[in-house]
Order: sequence, then structure tokens, then C-alpha cells
Amino acid sequence: MAALLLLCTAAKQATAPVPSPEPIAITELPLPPVLANTSVGACTKIINPHRTGCISQTGLFAGSFLPDSKHVLATVEFVGAPAAPDPASIYTGVQLFIVKTDNTTFHNGDSWKCITCGVPAANQVGATDLSAYPQTFLDGTRAMAGTNIIDCGKHLLASDSYTPDQVHVYPIRLSNTADYNGTGTGTALRELRIHPDQVHLGFDTFVFSGASIGEYSYFGRLQFNQTGLRYDVVNTSILVASTNSAAPLRFNGSEVVFDPEGIAVGELRGFSSDGSEILYVGYPVESCNIDLFAIGITSGKSYDNKWQVVLDTRDTNRMMFLSALRSVPPMTDLLTVGGAASVRNNGARRFFRPWLLDHDGDRDSRNGWYFGQQINGDGTTTPGGTNDPYWNAGANPRWSPDGRHVVYYEMFAVSPACGSANTLPCEANPYVDGRQVRIMLATLTSPWATKYTPGMTISSSALAVGGDYTLYGTAGDMTIFTNDGANFLNGHENVTTHLLSTTLSQFDWYSDLASTGPAGVGTKKTSADGFHFQIDVLTNEFEANGTMTTVIDDMVFEQPCNGC
Ligand SMILES: *[C@@H]1O[C@H](CO)[C@@H](O)[C@H](O)[C@H]1NC(C)=O
Ligand SMILES: *[C@@H]1O[C@H](CO)[C@@H](O)[C@H](O)[C@H]1NC(C)=O
Ligand SMILES: *[C@@H]1O[C@H](CO)[C@@H](O)[C@H](O)[C@H]1NC(C)=O
Ligand SMILES: *[C@@H]1O[C@H](CO)[C@@H](O)[C@H](O)[C@H]1NC(C)=O
Ligand SMILES: *[C@@H]1O[C@H](CO)[C@@H](O)[C@H](O)[C@H]1NC(C)=O
Ligand SMILES: *[C@@H]1O[C@H](CO)[C@@H](O)[C@H](O)[C@H]1NC(C)=O
Ligand SMILES: *[C@@H]1O[C@H](CO)[C@@H](O)[C@H](O)[C@H]1NC(C)=O
Ligand SMILES: *[C@@H]1O[C@H](CO)[C@@H](O)[C@H](O)[C@H]1NC(C)=O
Repeated sequence: MAALLLLCTAAKQATAPVPSPEPIAITELPLPPVLANTSVGACTKIINPHRTGCISQTGLFAGSFLPDSKHVLATVEFVGAPAAPDPASIYTGVQLFIVKTDNTTFHNGDSWKCITCGVPAANQVGATDLSAYPQTFLDGTRAMAGTNIIDCGKHLLASDSYTPDQVHVYPIRLSNTADYNGTGTGTALRELRIHPDQVHLGFDTFVFSGASIGEYSYFGRLQFNQTGLRYDVVNTSILVASTNSAAPLRFNGSEVVFDPEGIAVGELRGFSSDGSEILYVGYPVESCNIDLFAIGITSGKSYDNKWQVVLDTRDTNRMMFLSALRSVPPMTDLLTVGGAASVRNNGARRFFRPWLLDHDGDRDSRNGWYFGQQINGDGTTTPGGTNDPYWNAGANPRWSPDGRHVVYYEMFAVSPACGSANTLPCEANPYVDGRQVRIMLATLTSPWATKYTPGMTISSSALAVGGDYTLYGTAGDMTIFTNDGANFLNGHENVTTHLLSTTLSQFDWYSDLASTGPAGVGTKKTSADGFHFQIDVLTNEFEANGTMTTVIDDMVFEQPCNGC
């Protein structure tokens, strides 16, 4: 995640040529009127003459393109609807809707259309919250949102010709032992992704083992259950290597060996466009430097696809105090991976921006470092501009199937992530309607082959094994650590973790590391009293005493201030 991140495949491709920057145009997609007043009836005919609803300032998630590359799915919270039996009363609550991306409109003149507004209760028995990760099936008639499948019968989702009573919302269910064949909700699923074959599903589950939280990824098959009016997930695999749950570290007596080819799926984030690879955030290759990995579904190996879009903090230097010192083996990460990964956000404020990367990822090329191209990097940084740093992206940018567009959504930084007691000032909201979420469309003005990579979020599965172990550098001797005979690491680092709740950890961290070599001459040091930080992996509010500072050549990277 840090600017010096190296994907594990990159070393082999160190001199692969760097692509020229792509010309990219960014526009903001039209949305229904945004209302601060959420009272019944506040969405009046004056505000929306078409009587097709108003949305809240905050509740919005952008999703995937429809197969035609001209519509984007999103979920929004409709507010201010009049009471029934007014026909506009159906525009209320969290709903799935579509937005046109080509400046055309539906027959009523709107640029958007609600899909699930007004669906009769009998057509959505057992349905749950639709907010998360709206995505389409390639037949264009079905979508997934939250843990539900929305089905328009024979109609295309984007057509003008269906009515709400023709729409069904079916829950998705994975049996658990407590309720194996029954009608209960089954296992709680998150981060669902439709596989490109349209019948398989990838997803994650949280595991609460003892006092701590872990996460596992799954791959299963969707099967419609006509009796239960639901989709069952059948023939499911858990994506862990059965022989060694602590991979990619192998323990052999008192020795620990890091296997960079080892598989440790943390959080499943999606699939390559051809469906052959699972993409996931896994155990880091270098300490505190969180990476995205790809693995072949059947082979367990990775191979080439061409392009990716990632959401990353890389232009902010936010993570550099933890990760800028290179070639630190990922040992303390057994305890700290969840905590370190959580520093990327400040509560609701994310520091993600969308980046376009070629297949080989970050690397040291003949002409210097390649970190990809910030998709909105040429945009204006003034308030409300397409590159305004106060607008940060949500997870999961999406490629259009034609490879010409990327859609992503952005959220505005608001108190307490800035302002009042926080030393980071807030920006005045640049929108008259006070919207805090917006959907952005990037158009790649020269077309290319498609590779779609959902954005990065970080797993928190800790791999804790008690004991004292030694890890030897692969090119070093017993006295100094080096993996390549050119970059050397010296010193010590000591972390103790205390679980304060299932998701809240305290880290007591002492570092005094120094590196030399072409990857950078530097140090990673904590203050004499140590660096003590707390973070909750679900709320991401950074709170620390003491300091951790990484210095590389003449660049000094410090931790964010508390609450910043
Ligand atoms: C909010 O909308 C309701 C219903 O239209 C209206 O009665 C009320 O005055 C509005 N409140 C504000 C603060 O505008
Ligand atoms: C839509 O219209 C805007 C404003 O005229 C323009 O900047 C944008 O390029 C158009 N988008 C598409 C996809 O044609
Ligand atoms: C579930 O149903 C199958 C097939 O009817 C049956 O064999 C099995 O015992 C049932 N399992 C439970 C836990 O009830
Ligand atoms: C289909 O759903 C019903 C509940 O309505 C359940 O009893 C049945 O076992 C399910 N079928 C399969 C194959 O899981
Ligand atoms: C599930 O796996 C079994 C055994 O491999 C197979 O017979 C069955 O067809 C599979 N079901 C689905 C829906 O793929
Ligand atoms: C474990 O360590 C012993 C002693 O160093 C060595 O002989 C053996 O090959 C190692 N085993 C593995 C699987 O690495
Ligand atoms: C590691 O730090 C703890 C305090 O958090 C201290 O008690 C312990 O002695 C340290 N261990 C080493 C090997 O420095
Ligand atoms: C920081 O120090 C204060 C005062 O001793 C203490 O209340 C707080 O828990 C500490 N926070 C962390 C993250 O160590």
C-alpha cells in the first residue's frame, strides 16, 4: 500500500518497460436530487417534478457496469418520500438503481431508474440490506446487491418496460450446521463477488475464534432453490491451504522460513476478467507493506492479465512510517497485520485514490520507479474538483465491459475525521445540496484490453503461533539479514499485541532497524518509550502514544496524528 510497495511478481520483471500515461477524462454522474431534510414528504414535486424520489446526502454505493457499458448500478438511500398511497411513496429506503453514463435518459427524462422501489413484499421474502457491492450478471436481467439477487424476469435491468411487480429479490444463503436445511439466514456472508462464469460466487466470512476476529475466503456455486425462493450456495470451498494455516511462514523446529510463493488468502476481493484467478489481499511479503495477490483457481498459480485498477493510499505517504523501510521480513506481521492494515483509513475517511497499473505492478524500471498512473491525477484539486484530496474513493472501482470506462465513488471527509478537535481542518462542502458521496466516471480516451480488479481493502486474519523462531535471510549468514546480498537489514523490532475486544487491539511496538543498499539507506525507529497504538479493525480510528518514524535517504515519514 505504501509508495515503495513491490508486488511479489515485480522483481522478476524489474526492467519491463513502463507504459506511457493514458489520456483520461473524468466526469461526475447525475444522481436524483439530494436532500438534507429526510422528513416524510420533503421530496416535493418542486424538488423532483418527475416524482421519482430524492436521496440522502450520505447513503450511496456505486457498483458495476451493466453489460452494455452504458449504465452503472448503485445502491442509494431514498429519503423524504410522501406517505402512501401517493405513487411517489415507493421511493424510500435503501434501493438498487441504475444511472446512465452516456448522457442519455430513460423515457421519463431521468438519467436514473430505481429497480427495487415498489417491489411487493411477496416478491422479496427473506431479502436483506441491499447496500453492499451492487454488481450485474452478464445476462443483463439480474444483479446482486448485499446478499441478494435481484431478478427482472425476462427484462433487461436497463429497459423501460418492466414494473415493480415483475421484480424479485431473492436472498443468498450458505447453510451452517445449526440450520443446515432450514429456512434461517445461514452463515453471515460479506464482500460477495460474482465469478465471470456467472454461476460461482466468491465471498468472505468473519470468524470469531476465542477473543479475536479472523477472516476466511470462500468459493462456491449458486443454485436457485425454487421451493425456498432463494439462492443456495453449494459445493463450497474454504480458500485455505489445509496443510499449514500459517503459510507463507513455515515453522521447522526453532527456524521459521518465509515462502514468498506460499498461499495465505486473507480477504477475497474478486476475480480476473477471464475468471481464472482469484484476487485477494494476503499476508505481506515485506513487513507492514500490504499487497494484493492473484492466484489461479485450479492451479494455485498466477499468470498474466494485462491491466488493473487499484484503490490505494500510495500518493499520501500515510503508511510510510510503517512500511518505507525495505526488505524487513514479515515476522511481526503475525501479530500486527490487521492493525497495520487498518491505519489506511481514519474512521469514515479513506485515503484511497484510483490508480491504473499494468500487469507487472510497481517496479524499478530503467527509467526510475513505476507506481502506475493516478486515474484522476490530472483533475483539479480545488474544492469539489475531480482530484480534490477531501474526496476519497470507496472500495471497488469497476471496468466497463468494453474496457473504455472505470467507475468509482468518492466520499467527502467530514467531522470527526477532520475539524473541531482534529488538527486537520475540514473543507466546506462544495455542493449546494450538501452531498457527501458522488459517482465518478473515468473515460479512457484510447481503448485497450480489459482487466478488472476490484479495489483493495485489508484482511485482519492474524496467524498467531507461540514460540521463539529464527528466520535467516536467503543470501545472508548468521550475522546479518539479506535476501539479495545487496540490501542489508540490521537491528531489532519487538511487538506485543493485546486484544482489548474482538476487533480492538493494542500494539506495544519497539523498533530500531537500519537498512543499507540500493533499495534505500534508512532507519525505522520508535521513540525511547516505544510506540503504542490502538486500532479497531472495523472503525479504523488511529490512536497512538510515542512515535514511529521511518527515514529513507533524506525523506522522513511520520505516523498520522491521533484521529487524523
Ligand atoms: C422538512 O420537510 C418537511 C416536509 O415537507 C417540512 O414540513 C419541514 O418544514 C422541512 N424542514 C426543513 C428544516 O426544511
Ligand atoms: C456528457 O456530457 C458532458 C458535458 O457536456 C461531457 O463532458 C461528457 O464527456 C459527456 N459524456 C459522455 C459519455 O458522452
Ligand atoms: C438435510 O437434508 C438431507 C436430505 O434430505 C438429510 O439427509 C440430512 O440429514 C439433513 N440434515 C440436517 C442437519 O437436518
Ligand atoms: C430449498 O429451500 C427449502 C426451504 O424452503 C429447504 O427445505 C431445502 O432443503 C432447500 N433445498 C436445497 C437443495 O437446499
Ligand atoms: C456438487 O458436487 C457434486 C460432487 O462433486 C456434484 O455431483 C454436483 O453436481 C455438484 N453440484 C453442483 C450444483 O455443481
Ligand atoms: C528442518 O530443519 C532441519 C535442520 O536444520 C533440516 O535438516 C530440514 O531439511 C528442515 N526441513 C524442512 C522441511 O525445511
Ligand atoms: C519486548 O517488549 C516488551 C515490552 O512490550 C518487553 O517486556 C520485552 O522484554 C521486549 N523483548 C525484547 C526481546 O526486547
Ligand atoms: C496513551 O496514554 C494515555 C495516558 O497514559 C492512556 O490513557 C492511553 O490508553 C494510551 N493510549 C495508547 C494507545 O497507548
